Amino acid sequence: MMVARHLLQVRQYHPCLRRSIQLPLVSDHPFFSMTATFPIQPVARFAGKSELVKRPKEFACFSYDADHKFHIGARSLKWYYTPELNVDLSKGFESFIKHDDSVDEHLDSLLTTIADHEQKTSKPIDAHIVTWRGMMTKIMAAPFDDDGFEMNATLYRGCIFIEEHHAYKKESRANERPWNGPIPQEVMQYWGYKFETLSTLPRPWGETSRDFIESRPDHVVNNKEQYCSVVRTGIGKTILCIGGEVDAIWDDKPRTQGDPINWVELKTSAVIQNDRQANNFERKLMKFWIQSFLLGVPKIIIGFRTQDGLLVETKEFRTMEIPLMVKKNGRPKWDGDTCVNFVNGFLEWLRHTITDEGVWRIKRRPRSAEIEVFKVEEVGHGDIITDEFMNWRIKLELRQTQPPTEDTGTEE
Ligand code: A3P
Ligand code: MG
Repeated sequence: MMVARHLLQVRQYHPCLRRSIQLPLVSDHPFFSMTATFPIQPVARFAGKSELVKRPKEFACFSYDADHKFHIGARSLKWYYTPELNVDLSKGFESFIKHDDSVDEHLDSLLTTIADHEQKTSKPIDAHIVTWRGMMTKIMAAPFDDDGFEMNATLYRGCIFIEEHHAYKKESRANERPWNGPIPQEVMQYWGYKFETLSTLPRPWGETSRDFIESRPDHVVNNKEQYCSVVRTGIGKTILCIGGEVDAIWDDKPRTQGDPINWVELKTSAVIQNDRQANNFERKLMKFWIQSFLLGVPKIIIGFRTQDGLLVETKEFRTMEIPLMVKKNGRPKWDGDTCVNFVNGFLEWLRHTITDEGVWRIKRRPRSAEIEVFKVEEVGHGDIITDEFMNWRIKLELRQTQPPTEDTGTEE
């Protein structure tokens, strides 16, 4: 019954559907009676001038310390400082302190940070969608990428909260083809974190000793430590609250909250020596661009490495120039405007699809030309929304219905 009501609501919305929004197609799903689908293909219908995108503004942040313990605030923020070149990125792999990402962290840290912010403002955030940047990246890349994905979503007080479906991630990893490259996959993954350690400082340059800077090639690499920015942004009519890790800052945070921040995204990539490698790099640039675009990171610094992991060069890219740069390079592999219009259309469609309670799955099979959305739990919010967050929202509601007292927090 619940699913039928949901479909009715979607149909009623039909007359005001805009160009890029599709009416859900209803098909049978092996486990659940109704599946709504959003076609990815043909992507040409999303081409053209990009929908309006609001500049992402950071309104809160949190950090994981060296033990991956959560803290509100910027304690794990790092400053960019040019790395030494000709360093072997595999150096220190044996002492790598690696975060165990087999544990499902859901949206917990993001929700705690949002609740903390709401405590200060005494009002709920106004987002239609709350999620990690990684989820948005997967959706936005779908028109030009074959990767499959699965997410869980739930509607809670007018907002759709989206998390990764952790079991799917685990399963896809387990099913990956065995790695037969000359260098172990774990070592190659380490290179990215090593480059971050080589290129950042825990304090601004002026407060850092020469010794510390010069000894960076010998520092232990620890990817448990992270700084995460929580931003409010808008794509078309959809307001989003997105949380994601940022690698470093160029100078310092602005005094006024919401002002643009000179964030730096750090990446590594193989040196480009032939057309095939140039094509691969251009493809990689799409994910780099989307990732940085979503959080308002203006600069991407790429550390180019040899096949065996020697850091030989760094190059700076301005995030906003990347789509045009790719377009000018002959036959482009992807188009930024199409990505923006696609995600805009999908999110509007999703907001008219997920209209009642329960837990929903957002699923794209690898290479599939559509995204499926169907219900997996009839009631509740699964493990997406924490009890703490729900209790906080109840408290906030009570607070709002009562006459103000002195400690209602500060309005922004
Ligand atoms: P590179 O991107 O330089 O390869 P991020 O750039 O997103 O901050 O991630 C830092 C590093 O984490 C990456 O460095 C890579 O080594 C590793 N990493 C990130 N996402 C990954 C993924 N999906 N699979 C494997 N490694 C990943
Ligand atoms: Mg990075």
